[in-house]
Amino acid sequence: MLAAEITGCGDPARTIRIVEDAPMPRPRVGELLVRVEASSVNPLDCRRRRGYGRTVLGVMGAGRIPYIPGRDCVGVVEAIGPAVRRFRPGDRVWAAQSPARPGTQAAYVVVPATDAAPAPTSLSAIEAAAVPYAALSAWSALVGRGGLGPGRSAGKRVAILGAAGGIGTIAIQLAVAWGAKVAATCRGAGAVAALQALGADPVLDSGQGDPCLRLAGYDVVLDTIGGETTTRALRMVRPGGRLVTLITPVLPLTDRLGLPAGLAASAACGLADRVRAGITGGRRLVWAFVRPDGRVLGTLAEMADRGELRPLVAEIYPLARLAEAHARWEAGGVIGKIVIEVSPGGRATRPG
Ligand SMILES: NC(=O)c1ccc[n+]([C@@H]2O[C@H](COP(=O)([O-])OP(=O)(O)OC[C@H]3O[C@@H](n4cnc5c(N)ncnc54)[C@H](OP(=O)(O)O)[C@@H]3O)[C@@H](O)[C@H]2O)c1
Repeated sequence: MLAAEITGCGDPARTIRIVEDAPMPRPRVGELLVRVEASSVNPLDCRRRRGYGRTVLGVMGAGRIPYIPGRDCVGVVEAIGPAVRRFRPGDRVWAAQSPARPGTQAAYVVVPATDAAPAPTSLSAIEAAAVPYAALSAWSALVGRGGLGPGRSAGKRVAILGAAGGIGTIAIQLAVAWGAKVAATCRGAGAVAALQALGADPVLDSGQGDPCLRLAGYDVVLDTIGGETTTRALRMVRPGGRLVTLITPVLPLTDRLGLPAGLAASAACGLADRVRAGITGGRRLVWAFVRPDGRVLGTLAEMADRGELRPLVAEIYPLARLAEAHARWEAGGVIGKIVIEVSPGGRATRPG
């Protein structure tokens, strides 16, 4: 079958190839074979192509090269494995895929049925593909770690940092739909206007001064930037509130120090974070991690069909031009998501 493959570590043009003879996967117990229509570019794929996360991914059994990239997909169920009850061939689904499994940027992918849900009926495959991995990341941070969600957010003050990307543009919409008052930070006038249109107010351009000095008293701050921003963002949180960061040191530290020492150093960082947050007025600083989850994707599909979630598709590339799509993400300034069209009209895209 047609598939993209990552063949090594380095620049996109040198390390991404399109092959036509990748082995066709077969669904086993509890799995779906999905004919992929579209997928999206996620930072993990681009960074992993440069060696990021190799230690933990190696332990998860995902260290082999070449490998198929892609962390999410929208497509049609082609076949089901034994013991699958919720889906039938012909169903349109969306799914996110653990990095421990083969990626979604291929004509076909096998996903656990528990990680898939019926795709929203109101979105095209291209629009829907912008959602699963980014939205599950936003959900894990806002709901799993931030304590927000339907019925628990009305009137809450929420700030999203680095909000013009895949996660931020969805996190804004989730929090707004749940009744929170949402502030956002980004870079550039175009991004400011796009985030205002999603319902964020105020939206601060970090090129015009440090937003962490201008925003204060938030119940939940979601950090998608990391580094110094995480440290400075604590002052934005009200006493007793939470700073949730998606940027954790676990993968960089295990890459640098090896697994045991890297995990120990990560635990020490986590402890230091908790102490630092505690001595700044009972604020909590917590780490969030994305997790594939078909149940949450079902809820997100309902939100999309109610008009509460509108994907921002920045650019669309055919699978054959995946290397250009990675290079475009690396250049920065993308507002929303880059989507990869795998099989327009159900046919696999051919290179050239
Ligand atoms: N912990 C987890 O399980 C997990 C899961 C998913 C993602 N992540 C991480 O979360 C981060 C965000 O993911 P994403 O998919 O949203 O990435 P993305 O689409 O690339 O978006 C990142 C956004 O942050 C903006 N940004 C960076 N520095 C900024 C600054 N100083 N001020 C304002 N905006 C800034 C970027 O703007 P520019 O384009 O202008 O640079 C971009 O709009 C990534 O680092 C990703 O690896 C973690």
